[in-house]
Amino acid sequence: MTKTRIIGTGSYLPLTILSNEHLSTIVDTNDEWIMERTGIKERRIATTETTSSMASAAALLALEDSKVLAEDIDLIIVATFTPDSSMPSVSCKVQGSIGAVHAVCFDLNAACSGFLFALTTAHAYISSGIYKNALIIGAEALSRAIDWTDRGTCVLFGDGAGAVVLSKDSVGFIGSLLGSDGGKGEVLTYSKQMTKNLFDKEIIENSYIQMDGQEVFKFAVRKVPENISQLLEQHHTNIGQIDHFILHQANKRIIQSVAKRLNADENKFPINLNYCGNTSAASIPILIDDLNRGGKLKKNDTLVLSGFGGGLTWGSCLLTW
Ligand code: COA
Repeated sequence: MTKTRIIGTGSYLPLTILSNEHLSTIVDTNDEWIMERTGIKERRIATTETTSSMASAAALLALEDSKVLAEDIDLIIVATFTPDSSMPSVSCKVQGSIGAVHAVCFDLNAACSGFLFALTTAHAYISSGIYKNALIIGAEALSRAIDWTDRGTCVLFGDGAGAVVLSKDSVGFIGSLLGSDGGKGEVLTYSKQMTKNLFDKEIIENSYIQMDGQEVFKFAVRKVPENISQLLEQHHTNIGQIDHFILHQANKRIIQSVAKRLNADENKFPINLNYCGNTSAASIPILIDDLNRGGKLKKNDTLVLSGFGGGLTWGSCLLTW
């Protein structure tokens, strides 16, 4: 079966920075609480940007890095749960703006796990010979889905986009293990505002992200290490063989707990949530791009990507850089 490899990365963060100090003038919170409980110092907020403009900017940088031309991309998948419109999809908007005229485009929603689901989907298409070059993007404008009076959620999230180009190669993607549990979805929700039905025009309220923080925390620290361990076992790989654990950037304490439970070196768990916040589906590709451009990823390094989020959903990918 054909293999696939990430051959280029790009990311975009909005220009407006929202610091903890600034946030404490909006809701009853403070820098000390946020830093201690989450590790987040500041996050970016889309003002002029949209989900699709951020996704397009990240995509162009990934294309440049990969040296693949836009017209040679035959698949674009955008992972997002905050599209600027449901129709057309963000991926179609990206296609239009970057000139990827031969691409098939669709969006995918697996909340914060979305990038891992999109990467796995693109790998399946390419390895089965249907497509050759894919752009996989995670992009979110979470600041537009947040209740800015709810200090339990508004301090956590940020906006941004990250992209990778996935192409045919002799090594690269080794495997992935994804999961979902719709029975527990109520702990993390975001309902779009819409009327109930034709005969009842009442607007359904609560169109913001709502979360039971402690339940999500407990789920993450249990499920992520379990999922990574199972994936590594499937591929006869030891924790010690992994060079970088690129985890969804939700909370520094969750990442530290995962490292501990896996008995892995915490230095192998890079962090950028201090200046990005939790950017949901964008967090893993933004971090990959940070590391790639910072020269931290060496050819043939072994990487684990892993995340969790609403749905509930979770997943991990094992790959050679
Ligand atoms: N600033 C100051 N105080 C805050 C606060 C804020 N932003 N948010 C909550 N508090 C207060 C609470 O009101 C509570 O006060 P009380 O003890 O007087 O009632 C106290 O801090 C503790 O609240 P709690 O919710 O128990 O804190 P916590 O230690 O569980 O931390 C989270 C809260 C949200 C940081 C933590 O639960 C978490 O990270 N969960 C995972 C969330 C996540 O990753 N979501 C995204 C998934 S993709």
